[in-house]
Amino acid sequence: MSYTPATDRYQHMPYRRSGKSGLLLPLISLGFWHNFGDVDDASVYKNIVYKAFDKGITHFDFANNYGPPPGSAESNVGAILKKDFKGYRDELIISTKAGYLMWPGPYGEWGSRKYLLSSLDQSLKRLEVDYVDIFYSHRFDPNTPLEETMGALASAVQQGKALYAGISSYDAEQTTKAANILRSMGTPCLIHQPKYSMLDRWVEGELMQVLDQKGIGCIAFSPLAQGVLTDKYLKGIPENSRASKSHGALQSNHITKELVSQIKKLNDIAKSRNQSLAQMAIAWLLKDQRVTSVLVGASSVAQLEDNLGSLNNLAFDALELNKIESILA
Ligand SMILES: NC(=O)c1ccc[n+]([C@@H]2O[C@H](COP(=O)([O-])OP(=O)(O)OC[C@H]3O[C@@H](n4cnc5c(N)ncnc54)[C@H](OP(=O)(O)O)[C@@H]3O)[C@@H](O)[C@H]2O)c1
Repeated sequence: MSYTPATDRYQHMPYRRSGKSGLLLPLISLGFWHNFGDVDDASVYKNIVYKAFDKGITHFDFANNYGPPPGSAESNVGAILKKDFKGYRDELIISTKAGYLMWPGPYGEWGSRKYLLSSLDQSLKRLEVDYVDIFYSHRFDPNTPLEETMGALASAVQQGKALYAGISSYDAEQTTKAANILRSMGTPCLIHQPKYSMLDRWVEGELMQVLDQKGIGCIAFSPLAQGVLTDKYLKGIPENSRASKSHGALQSNHITKELVSQIKKLNDIAKSRNQSLAQMAIAWLLKDQRVTSVLVGASSVAQLEDNLGSLNNLAFDALELNKIESILA
């Protein structure tokens, strides 16, 4: 059966401007790091893609190496986009990245012009699109002049292979330098993609200030700490969860007794707000207006729907915030 997008898809999702750019992103975006590779079930992930777009999630986030195997998330979802999203390309913001190991030899990772532009060409082929909306440097490369890495992003934009440039996981100082170089090249940095959740708050110091000053958006990755900030690990490690899989990036030994006790306390606060813990964890990030979008992952339609439910209650009172702070301290 062919897919027809829901006609009411823009009625419930709020959109926020990415920094001082013209681009609006949905408060919740969908990431394709896990769950869309060749190891995953196409009949499941296809429906996640459909549900996302039906609910106003216009932003799909990839990287060259998502899978496993690397590249397969782009190929698998690229085929879905080609078959089922014909005529909807202009309603989608598709991003990809290059930075981590993708192919053997000296040109298959980090931040050289050679690697970034070759990788982008490969991503465009796998995704079966003429351009991506955002092309990211996936990580800072200490051994390549930043001018070269940023120059490759600016070239991608000048060549029409990307519409905007982004950076991921750069610290505050690296971000300041990258933003200055990009601006001097006439390609302002649209967005920064850092890891940010209740359990990992490194961005809250200098980085958020830099992004605000420079008019750069922020899209938070792993907002649920890869599933830890949900109720799923409260009673052990369930089968098929990310922590149970050998190819999952979450190690089972990360789920310690101390962590579970902290999650239980957060879960109680979420319950008192009539929310799931996943919903509260997403809302907690969105309370900061400088966070443009929260980039979730999902291994089922039900999870995506649960996460979307966060939009029903985004407000926190001071008491709730204080309680959360004392648990996170
Ligand atoms: N720039 C970077 O370096 C970088 C790095 C990592 C990720 N990212 C991006 O960020 C995206 C999101 O990262 P992430 O997958 O780590 O995000 P996450 O939202 O923190 O974790 C997603 C995982 O949590 C579980 N989950 C999600 N919703 C749930 C719910 N409502 N109830 C119970 N479990 C739930 C699922 O895992 P189960 O398999 O256990 O069901 C799901 O795959 C990635 O896809 C990618 O686009 C970027």
